[in-house]
Amino acid sequence: MKVGIDAISFYTPAMYLSMEQLAKARNEDPNKYLIGIGQQEQSVVPNTQDVVTMAANAAEQIINDDNRAKIDLVIFGTESGIDNSKSAAIYLQTLLELSPRTRAFETKQACYGATAGLQMARDYVQLHPDKQALVIGADVARYGLNTPGEVTQGGGAVAMIVSANPRIISFDGNSAFYSKDIMDFWRPLHTTEAIVDGHYSNDVYVNFFKETWNQYQQITDLSIADLSAMIFHLPYPKMGIKGLRAVLPEATPDKQAELKTAFSFGSMYNKRVGNLYTGSLYLSLLSLIDNDDHLKVGDTVGLFSYGSGAQGEFFTGQVEAGFFDANRKQRMQTMLNSRRQLSVPEYESIFNSWPKIKAGDLILSVSDDDAKFVFAGVKDDQRQYLNRK
Ligand code: CAA
Repeated sequence: MKVGIDAISFYTPAMYLSMEQLAKARNEDPNKYLIGIGQQEQSVVPNTQDVVTMAANAAEQIINDDNRAKIDLVIFGTESGIDNSKSAAIYLQTLLELSPRTRAFETKQACYGATAGLQMARDYVQLHPDKQALVIGADVARYGLNTPGEVTQGGGAVAMIVSANPRIISFDGNSAFYSKDIMDFWRPLHTTEAIVDGHYSNDVYVNFFKETWNQYQQITDLSIADLSAMIFHLPYPKMGIKGLRAVLPEATPDKQAELKTAFSFGSMYNKRVGNLYTGSLYLSLLSLIDNDDHLKVGDTVGLFSYGSGAQGEFFTGQVEAGFFDANRKQRMQTMLNSRRQLSVPEYESIFNSWPKIKAGDLILSVSDDDAKFVFAGVKDDQRQYLNRK
């Protein structure tokens, strides 16, 4: 029996910043951001969205009466948690009106949380094929104004239904993983912005990729010749190119060209959204299956997941018969194309309106946010979420 992703959806807020304009405002050559980093646009997250609302806005696109009756596991991967105790998954379960007979919890290991959730969900459904799981990767990537990391910000949520006999991609359970205690990127409890040693994190990412790819080849019979695409966690698109370049010499010239083409299809959405931390690899998967018209049923796709601190994992998936959905692609394009472009001062003002970590009530005006699920503020230390059906 095959197990894997049966449905996938994405949400990002309705505002973005042009990287060309940001570069000009920061006295950088635009080509550094557009080519050197590989980023064209970046989603900007208003204070009326957080990981819970973004996850709900993503997941409601793929929840229906059929899977609502089967989902009894909700795993919420995030490193932008909204409470030190209660998980975002519980809020989500309520907003989506899922059954209370559900296991709902959060996973955290930087940008790796959704992969941990996906692998747990895969194993669970393998044991209980009549059940389904909802796996989320949702984050707000914030480094701070005028920092080197600013060009690699972004935000959004990916939602995935894991089931038996999946329509999109199946996973056979083989996987190679590697972890080590290092300080390349972290976010202490007192701050909403990450602390990062950017160049060091690049080196660790590539080393973890090589380590897990080599390990994967040892535990399976696969080599680079068997892959039709390799997709990556993409903190910024150039980062994945660095990973791919590290293994391309193992491939024939034709295979190198094929993998480079697949990579560019698999980073189209990421170039417009920016980093979404734990959802980033799965936004790349969505970008690949929506846009790469070379992709065929039965093809093998390699996936590299990386979470700073650090955890890496390499696994592969087999493309299944229902991987392409014209309606899903249309919805995605409408979402990205209808976002409002912000000026740099508007973006800076929205960035600075992000709630600080402090006690007290907070009332937010939600009238400018058209999303179905919004965050309306805090009352008596409880977060207030609205479902505007
Ligand atoms: N035209 C074309 N390219 C140009 C250029 C120009 N005019 N000017 C510079 N470039 C190129 C540089 O040559 C460089 O390319 P290479 O990496 O191929 O050498 C690239 O643009 C970036 O230039 P710099 O290295 O000088 O940029 P920087 O010092 O400002 O830092 C960064 C870049 C380290 C990525 C920084 O943005 C950062 O710290 N980002 C956050 C951390 C991050 O995303 N790390 C990735 C791995 S960690 C992870 O995966 C977890 C996670 O999600 C955070």
